[in-house]
Amino acid sequence: MSSREVILDCLRSKKGVFVSGEELGGRLGISRVAIGNHIRKLREQGYDIESTVSQGHRLLAEPDLLLPQEICGRLTTQRFGREIHYLTSTASTSSIAKQKAAEGAPEGAIFITEEQTGGRGRLSRGWFSPAMQGIWFSLVLRPPFAPQEAPKCTLLAAVALCTAIRKESGIACGIKWPNDILCGGHKLVGILTEMNAEMDAINYVVIGIGINVNIARDAFPEELRDIATSVSMEAGRSVSRLDLLLCVLLELEFWYDKALHDGFAPILDEWRRLSVTIGQEVSVVAPDRSFIGVAENIDDDGALLVRTDTGQEKVWAGDVSIRPVRKT
Ligand code: BTN
Repeated sequence: MSSREVILDCLRSKKGVFVSGEELGGRLGISRVAIGNHIRKLREQGYDIESTVSQGHRLLAEPDLLLPQEICGRLTTQRFGREIHYLTSTASTSSIAKQKAAEGAPEGAIFITEEQTGGRGRLSRGWFSPAMQGIWFSLVLRPPFAPQEAPKCTLLAAVALCTAIRKESGIACGIKWPNDILCGGHKLVGILTEMNAEMDAINYVVIGIGINVNIARDAFPEELRDIATSVSMEAGRSVSRLDLLLCVLLELEFWYDKALHDGFAPILDEWRRLSVTIGQEVSVVAPDRSFIGVAENIDDDGALLVRTDTGQEKVWAGDVSIRPVRKT
């Protein structure tokens, strides 16, 4: 822990109570002036700290930011999120993560921001990422799988996210193939998986995750209002972004370790259980064809199996929408 983290930890453990500069200085073996400098920096980051000459410093409130020291202090994972790259604002966390992964960023490193100005979605779409209202981050993985198994990392992430959101907010969400998390038919989370590989080995996978956490309906751009939702809209209350992020990282690590030890079968089973696609009539726009049918299952490679009038179609990539139930 850095000196600043120790100071914060100490103030936090005695929240609202004054701790003298002498006590803090004694704990760290640094002067009261140095303590004062750290306190000033913390204030600049948004911590509300009251300081008096006679009594010392007391923490009144913490900022609602996903600062590394906030994450580190409470993280319970072994590897995921142990290296954090934090930016107040950036174009796209996935663009930075890919660049840093190419330069050697380790597995488990995360790139997180309060706001994205050029958030990227699947199929070259954009991703709405307003400041401090969501969780916008990208995770670097270096899986020992064959490159053709990489799409299963997306299914793994979808299972982890659905589980974490249910645990933290109580809302029942489901997965639309391959990786949208929906609640009441509206999109809550987007996952963008990007890979760099040789013919027979993956160099890195970057999983970019966007969770609409505390976004009010009116705050979404008009064109998203009827298709997107947020955790706060569904839960009827605002949700701690930090608590949710910690739970998401833990679930991601749990399911990733499961894939490493037991293979993908348990993940595919859980994906099927959480699916809102299976059993539904869907329209599919794949790169090479478009058709309508009933989604029957996903196979062991993660491809969607769709029953059409002419037989069974296997969908590897594309856009799948669930068709509204027809009234007879
Ligand atoms: C989708 O189209 O559903 C995927 C959206 C993925 C958005 C996330 S937000 C963090 C990361 N950075 C990006 O630019 N995109 C992903």
